Amino acid sequence: MLPDDAGAVLALAGRTLPPPAGTADPRALRAGTLARLEHPCRTDPGGCLVAERADGSLGGAAQAIVREGLWGLSLLAVDEDLRGRGVGRALLERCLAHGAGPAHGPGLILSSEHPAAMRRYARAGFSLHPALAVAGIPVLDAAPTAAADVADAGAAGLAAANAIGRAVRGAGYGEDLAVWLDHGARLLVVEDRAFACAREGRVLLVAGRDEPAAALALWAAILSAPRGATISADFLTAGQQWAIRVALDARLALSPEGPVCTRGMAAPPAPYLPSGAWL
Ligand SMILES: CC(C)(COP(=O)(O)OP(=O)(O)OC[C@H]1O[C@@H](n2cnc3c(N)ncnc32)[C@H](O)[C@@H]1OP(=O)(O)O)[C@@H](O)C(=O)NCCC(=O)NCCS
Repeated sequence: MLPDDAGAVLALAGRTLPPPAGTADPRALRAGTLARLEHPCRTDPGGCLVAERADGSLGGAAQAIVREGLWGLSLLAVDEDLRGRGVGRALLERCLAHGAGPAHGPGLILSSEHPAAMRRYARAGFSLHPALAVAGIPVLDAAPTAAADVADAGAAGLAAANAIGRAVRGAGYGEDLAVWLDHGARLLVVEDRAFACAREGRVLLVAGRDEPAAALALWAAILSAPRGATISADFLTAGQQWAIRVALDARLALSPEGPVCTRGMAAPPAPYLPSGAWL
């Protein structure tokens, strides 16, 4: 996959994956999603693949990224008419070969609920951790007063966020968070203890060195959205009870979703709400 393929891959994702939540402005959403697809083509060209039909049209795509030894699957999609023939498996195998890390080194995949996806990830040696999504228009009465004081640090917070990410998931983020900031995301930093990235109610990522700080960062992300906007966050696994408590206090609704898949780690990083794009 080359950066120029991003438009065709975006169309494929639109046909095969649930629509991304958030942002009232469809043009901003499109620009942000294109950037989300182009960025790994630059950082991880060997991990970004397309499957072409005989006529050259695009029928599948996958993206794997490696950050400081942590491998992650950022995208896997195959058009419906090509499914069940091993295309998804072949794309995943090429992605798993990306990066110089050991075959059993740390890895993360945020799975859809598709049975073929979950089967392949488990068979590829990943442990599957059931997860919940949260969404709704929040009630803010229970927000801690300190959440309103959390700094919207912008680019000045990137160094702290990378250090926190390294402490919690074992790897920093390279240029990933800066790409989000270029596309309207906020970086909310609680001292050197926790941060959240959020864009208009969509919680993209939360990481904390301790649960109270992570909860404060999540509240700050909720408060950063326009009043009345829908808040959504994904992939709350069993280790993220701190986030489930915040979501329930804000009166968000819980629903089941695909599992967090891990390799080379005992459990998903915590306190941590990962990003499906850049994990
Ligand atoms: C998930 C997806 C990429 C799989 O692509 P695919 O080309 O159909 O996959 P494959 O044909 O290689 O099959 C993968 C495995 O799932 C199995 N499988 C295929 N379809 C299945 C189904 N409907 N139910 C259960 N298992 C299924 C296959 O037997 C194979 O297992 P095996 O290798 O152990 O035999 C494709 O279904 C897809 O794009 N789904 C929608 C988007 C999505 O959910 N992507 C995953 C994001 S995390």
